[in-house]
Amino acid sequence: MALLQPGSGVALRQTVRMRLRPTMQSDIDFVLTLERDPVNLPFITPWERTQHEAAIRFPDFRHFIVEGGAGLDAVGFLILIGCRSPHHSLELKRMVVQPKGQGFGRAAIRVAKKIAFDDLGAHRLWLDVKSLNTRAQKLYESEGFTVEGRLRDAVRVADGYDALVVMSMLASEFSQRRQQGLEVFA
Ligand SMILES: CC(C)(COP(=O)(O)OP(=O)(O)OC[C@H]1O[C@@H](n2cnc3c(N)ncnc32)[C@H](O)[C@@H]1OP(=O)(O)O)[C@@H](O)C(=O)NCCC(=O)NCCS
Repeated sequence: MALLQPGSGVALRQTVRMRLRPTMQSDIDFVLTLERDPVNLPFITPWERTQHEAAIRFPDFRHFIVEGGAGLDAVGFLILIGCRSPHHSLELKRMVVQPKGQGFGRAAIRVAKKIAFDDLGAHRLWLDVKSLNTRAQKLYESEGFTVEGRLRDAVRVADGYDALVVMSMLASEFSQRRQQGLEVFA
């Protein structure tokens, strides 16, 4: 269970009660509903049901439900891939949280980093994010990810093409942040 509180490196507006648990078959409808919600669609490329079903079973993937709030209701999902990468390079493939702006996204990414580096032995954790997705970029930057570059016109969007911004964190950077008290859970 992660309880993120003010003073844990990033100013949070409130204590955030949140945990990740493995996604189950019975969660897939919830995941698909979130992905297809018009508020999320501009920022992600939704998967078919069968892709999520495979991701739950495939050992290289970790598919999590984000549970949050007083009742620990399902508030999102998160997918890590490359968990068996011989290069120890893991990708945060997708993260969707709803309701937004309540700190669940920050809490989830912080736990995801811990899982990736501590439990799965990542040397590198990376992601790509649409250039138009400034909310997510701000979150990743403030959680210690470095911008590596831009893949120009990499994805189709409503009015043309958008770039993908590639961001990453290395294990050494994670350790440094931890020493600085920036990877704290209450
Ligand atoms: C991106 C997302 C996961 C963030 O989760 P969240 O719970 O809304 O984010 P948080 O409440 O933890 O806020 C984290 C930071 O995001 C930024 N942020 C939050 N709301 C924002 C807004 N409306 N506009 C711009 N930035 C915003 C802020 O930097 C905030 O930091 P703060 O808490 O210091 O203010 C979530 O908004 C989401 O699911 N978006 C749609 C799908 C998506 O974009 N996924 C990522 C694809 S790479």
